[in-house]
Order: sequence, then structure tokens, then C-alpha cells
Amino acid sequence: MAAPEAPSTARMIDHWLGGRHHRPVDVAAASAFEAAYGPSAAIFRSLRGFLGRAVRAIAAEGVDSFLVFGAGVPTCGNVHEVAPDATVLYTDVDPETVRLGQRLLAGSDRVGYGYGDATDIGTLDPALLHRFVPGWGRRPVGVVFLGLAAFLDDDTLARTLDELYEAVAPGSWLAIDFDGEELAGHPEALAMMGPAFRMRAPERFAPLLGRWRPTVEGVVPVARWRPVGEPERVPDAFHGALAQRPAG
Ligand SMILES: C[S@@+](CC[C@H](N)C(=O)[O-])C[C@H]1O[C@@H](n2cnc3c(N)ncnc32)[C@H](O)[C@@H]1O
Repeated sequence: MAAPEAPSTARMIDHWLGGRHHRPVDVAAASAFEAAYGPSAAIFRSLRGFLGRAVRAIAAEGVDSFLVFGAGVPTCGNVHEVAPDATVLYTDVDPETVRLGQRLLAGSDRVGYGYGDATDIGTLDPALLHRFVPGWGRRPVGVVFLGLAAFLDDDTLARTLDELYEAVAPGSWLAIDFDGEELAGHPEALAMMGPAFRMRAPERFAPLLGRWRPTVEGVVPVARWRPVGEPERVPDAFHGALAQRPAG
């Protein structure tokens, strides 16, 4: 008998964002989560809004290539859609998500999708890296690290961010988020996130950035990071920052 199909967090997010690349098993898992927590689409749309504002801010600094970790489904306002003149390499550890991303982006000479474990830059395919993030290590780039920190313990996250800092050229940028403590009041929903899931208070997260220098906004709920107009009225489930390896 075939193993039962498992839901994917990436495709559940696609469902919440109103995308088209998810399956009934993902919708069922999203509905079960919402039964335990409450409506979630607005929260994920707000996080995607933060991605858009952070990526546009990086592009406005003259950066024209992006490396995306834990990318999930590359649609619904993802990086190449908000920075249409940039080249983008999306990466993820989940082989099915990588295959889906490759299918969706097939034929693009500007945007690629490959396997990559965020905790080990050495797992990135050098050919893809040099094709879609040209000048890696020599020119400033944008690194997008969203939806990932919650699944890494403090030591792993701090080491990973430090290795990334060392690998990128001065002047590069990091867009990052982490899960606050919103789910602490919803134990059933928290249990659904699995044993590796970590919530963090902002004061616990900030030191993990190490040498990365946050912009003046600091580490804030994502809806309040350079909002355009009134920030969305959503629970502070995700906090985030835009940080830089200073130039020169
Ligand atoms: C919660 S989803 C976030 C997807 C997307 N970044 C977003 O914000 O919509 C987390 C994604 O990270 C991937 N992932 C988990 N651990 C990873 C790791 N160590 N390196 C790279 N990707 C990872 C998962 O496969 C999944 O697609």
C-alpha cells in the first residue's frame, strides 16, 4: 500500500496565499490548524507583504540578485515577482518542493530553483549559484531567509547566519523572520508544528543575528516593518528584520 500523502507547509502557505499549487491534503492540514488556532490566511499574507517590502528595499539599494532559502512555492508575490529585473535562485530541502519550483520556473533564464540546505551553503549547486547569483561572494546580494528560523535551534541558527555573513560580499542584505510566542496560547496548534518548532521573543532572537546589522527599524512584527499606509491588523505571529553586512 502506498504511504499516505503528507501535507507540506510550503503548499499550505500557497493555499493561505490564494495560490494554485497545493493538494487536498494541504487544505485539510491548513483547516485542522485553523480549527486549533484561528484564521491564518491574513497572517501569511502579511508575512508575504513583508517579503515584498524587504525585497523592494534591497533592490532599491542597487542589488540585482537574490538567494532564497526555504523558498517553498515560488509564486504569490515571491521574490522574482516583486523584483522583476533581478536574477533569483530559490532553494529548499524538500525534494518535492524543489521539483514543483523547477516545473513552475522552467524556461526562465533569470530565475532558477535548486536543492539547498540553509544550514550548509556547501549543499548549493555551484553552477546554479553562479548562474542566478552572479558574482556570489564578490558583489552584494540579497539573502531571503523566511519561514525557516522556527525550525532551527539557536546554535544552528546563529552559526548558519554567521557562515552566510562570511560568504556574502560586504554590502549584502538579509531579510529574515522568526516565530514569536503567539502559539503559546494555542497548545493544540503548537503541537501540530512538530517537536523542532521554536518560538522566540524578539530579545532572544536579536543576538542570533550576530554581525548582521539590522536597519533602524530593528526587529519588529512584520506588519510594522516599513508599512505602506496602516499596518495590517493581524496577531504578531511573525517578527522580522532587514539586516546588512556593512559595505567596506
Ligand atoms: C514554513 S515553509 C516557508 C516557505 C516560504 N519561505 C514562505 O515564507 O512562504 C518552510 C520551508 O523551509 C524548508 N526547509 C526546512 N528546513 C530547511 C533547511 N534546513 N534548509 C532549507 N530549507 C528548509 C521546508 O521544506 C519548507 O519549504
